[in-house]
Amino acid sequence: MKIVFATNNAHKLSEVKAVLGDGYELVTLKEVGITEDIPETGDTLDENASLKARYVYERTGLDCFADDTGLEVEALGGAPGVRSARYATDGHDFAANNRKLLKELDGVTNREARFRTVISLIVAGEEIQVEGVVNGVIALSESGSEGFGYDPLFIPEGKDVTFAEMSADEKNSISHRGRAVAELVKVLHKVYK
Ligand code: IMP
Repeated sequence: MKIVFATNNAHKLSEVKAVLGDGYELVTLKEVGITEDIPETGDTLDENASLKARYVYERTGLDCFADDTGLEVEALGGAPGVRSARYATDGHDFAANNRKLLKELDGVTNREARFRTVISLIVAGEEIQVEGVVNGVIALSESGSEGFGYDPLFIPEGKDVTFAEMSADEKNSISHRGRAVAELVKVLHKVYK
């Protein structure tokens, strides 16, 4: 089954492929000729996931899905949230984002946070949303070199290492995106049965 995943992020693609399994052929934005950045002008993760999926559907007419993820830090009132990619700068500067997060939390004892992923799936023009959440805490300093984004700072609940210190399989088995994709798989199995 062929389906467009609205991303060009190689990390995300391999994470989603691993959870989705062999039954689906994932096609990236580049492969369907969408090379421009899709505007993410929504105020929520739900809106942005929907905007991205609709953008792809309107241009290709293909079944597709898009995800939007945010890191929600309790002591920062849910920030960076929907602005996670552009927290420190206009670009996707992971190192600058991590530095800013550590600075904002300097001296703060409540380090509770969660990653939330929303996926919008469009099949034959019908849109369905699913979500995945993982709770955790923000570490006092960065550890590990796996993964991407805020991974070196995020210690998931029940673990004593960051996402960036885990193998891809270990991260996928408990992560926000892994959980959202597991929900996506359930929906796909139903709609494509
Ligand atoms: P996106 O809009 O879904 O691409 O995610 C927004 C931002 O959240 C990214 O630029 C990353 O900084 C961060 N992010 C998304 N997923 C992850 C993850 O699995 N680990 C760490 N950071 C992530």
